[in-house]
Amino acid sequence: MANAAVADSAQADALRHALVEELVTAGSIASLEVAAAFRTVPRHLFAPEVPLQEAYANDIVRTKRDEHGVTISSVSAPWLQAVMLEQAQIGPGMRCLEIGSGGYNAALMAELVGPDGEVTTVDIDADVTDRARRFLDTAGYGHVNVVLADAEHGVPQHAPFDRIIVTVGVFDVPPAWWTQLAEGGRIVVPLRVRGLSRSLALVRDGDHLVSVGHEMAGFVAVQGVGARAERLVTLHGEEVGLRFDDDQPVEAEGLREALRLPRVQAWSGVTFGGMEPFDGLFLWLATSLDRFCLLSRARTDAARGLVDPASPIATPTLLSRDGFAYVAFREVDPQTQTYEFGVYAHGVDAEGLAATLIEQIRLWDHEHRRGAAAKFTIYPASVPVARVPGVRVVPKRHTTVTISWP
Ligand SMILES: C[S@@+](CC[C@H](N)C(=O)[O-])C[C@H]1O[C@@H](n2cnc3c(N)ncnc32)[C@H](O)[C@@H]1O
Repeated sequence: MANAAVADSAQADALRHALVEELVTAGSIASLEVAAAFRTVPRHLFAPEVPLQEAYANDIVRTKRDEHGVTISSVSAPWLQAVMLEQAQIGPGMRCLEIGSGGYNAALMAELVGPDGEVTTVDIDADVTDRARRFLDTAGYGHVNVVLADAEHGVPQHAPFDRIIVTVGVFDVPPAWWTQLAEGGRIVVPLRVRGLSRSLALVRDGDHLVSVGHEMAGFVAVQGVGARAERLVTLHGEEVGLRFDDDQPVEAEGLREALRLPRVQAWSGVTFGGMEPFDGLFLWLATSLDRFCLLSRARTDAARGLVDPASPIATPTLLSRDGFAYVAFREVDPQTQTYEFGVYAHGVDAEGLAATLIEQIRLWDHEHRRGAAAKFTIYPASVPVARVPGVRVVPKRHTTVTISWP
């Protein structure tokens, strides 16, 4: 090896070990097995177009964009890969399917299954599979199967699978993934439910799948047969939008009119620390509110002047025919970086909407914030699902998803 190559390789090793330390400290890596896989696979060989530091940053490496500049393929962020591998609990000798290829994650999976297991990775995009094949071969993982196909149909030629890890954001769980899942198998899938994306770890329970855990996860959207865009209702040019993931009828003009009315605010007394994520509250509101959507705003001062939601991308919003209320927060103690959840509302019934949303924030804080996580179940659409109070039932194309809280 030339001197420069030796130096590069030593630097890559150092960066890789530092990344593993970071992932362990953050809790993204929890097991020795996943740590060993991350220590072994040279991530930079799967992202040769970026400098070593970027390849080993705890961030995604974008590898392909569409004509609008939207990322459609990437090497996912190491923390998310680690979290999903931990969710999958892959063991030696297992047969695994990865949906959405990049090469790197498939190599990590190959380390986890060892010489007696088998890993298949499938992608809808020939550029991606060509790339993954090349990089896997270079890095010494020529035994990983790389398949070009729409994963909606699974990969029957390599099924059954003990583990299926989906690394693309999906709206539903297609039937092929159930039928190609081995007895006792597990699916890890970033599923969009009422607009919120969560990586669910799912196991079979009789005629349905049940979550044994879930984590925050954002992914590029699935393409092909399974693609399903959200509906966007704009309220003020492109500045403010309401995102709908279901077919509820919406009186857009009434909501636009509501935004022109003065804003009502209400504060909950429920506080949180600066580093605390909102995912539990957001999921609770997606469960408990019937007329639910997500508010988003442009990252402009004009948009911020109109609405100030907790998250500019996706903030739980309660709707009426001609009004809406959304979650916000304000700083209550700069010293300790403590914030308080509140609500902003617009429309003739703004006061009532704000009060309902505040009540739900308090209920979450009181009953669920510190308790066990929500549970998801996924039934084939052909199985009737009883409507039980407190359980949110979300119809999809192939399945019915429920969210319930203990
Ligand atoms: C985030 S990337 C995958 C990252 C990869 N697992 C890694 O090693 O980090 C998501 C991939 O999903 C692919 N994809 C999107 N829709 C798909 C579909 N219907 N079937 C298979 N792959 C799909 C995209 O082409 C993209 O390459």
